[in-house]
Amino acid sequence: MQFNPQEITALAQADAAAPRMDIYAFIHKALRAYMFDTLLGLGRVDAEDDLELSQAGARVLQLLSFCRSHLHHENTFVHPAMERHAPGSTAAVEQEHDGHGQAIAALADAAQQLMQCPRERRARVAHALYQQLALFVAHNFEHMQLEETAHNAVLWAHYSDAELAAIEGALIASIPADEMLVTLRWMLPSMTPSERAMVLGDMRRNAPPGIFDTALSVMRPHLSNGEWGKLARALELAR
Ligand SMILES: [Fe+2]
Repeated sequence: MQFNPQEITALAQADAAAPRMDIYAFIHKALRAYMFDTLLGLGRVDAEDDLELSQAGARVLQLLSFCRSHLHHENTFVHPAMERHAPGSTAAVEQEHDGHGQAIAALADAAQQLMQCPRERRARVAHALYQQLALFVAHNFEHMQLEETAHNAVLWAHYSDAELAAIEGALIASIPADEMLVTLRWMLPSMTPSERAMVLGDMRRNAPPGIFDTALSVMRPHLSNGEWGKLARALELAR
């Protein structure tokens, strides 16, 4: 996907259309935050510090595992729904997903090498991995925009919001508990206050007992006092 300056001017028209159910919006906010935070952490790592270096390497590996699962979720739940009504509509993104799968494997290999490499080479290997991870992140940012525009256009043309919510519900139900905790940790703090209140309010009403409290505790350390106050007021929580 090439950068298109005209898309910037199109922002002024963003409020013209009624909002539709966007199954990409929240998970992509999570991914952008998670990718950027991991990249920043790697850029700041002290290669002389054994613990810091291994933690930075482990964080890269965890991010890559999360990205691998995300590809799988989209390929399994979203793309078949699109292909059912618009054959060929996922071809470009599927091809990019194949490329992402290869990049994830190569980056994971490089992260393992960093964690095992001799002390005198660590700084150079860490910087090389930082640059390659930055390229991967840059491509993913463009890729997510393609999905949020072209893919959403197909989904909105062929599915009602209730049907899209059902597709998303099936996807969420397939996510194991440990991955869900990582998702909540990155997704909830990355939302606007009104989005956060809406998602958590829905969770309190509909999710199994305990999930709501877990979500609050996972998110709390990553909110400012002001953000927490807005959420507490919106959900009438005891503070
Ligand atoms: Fe994707």
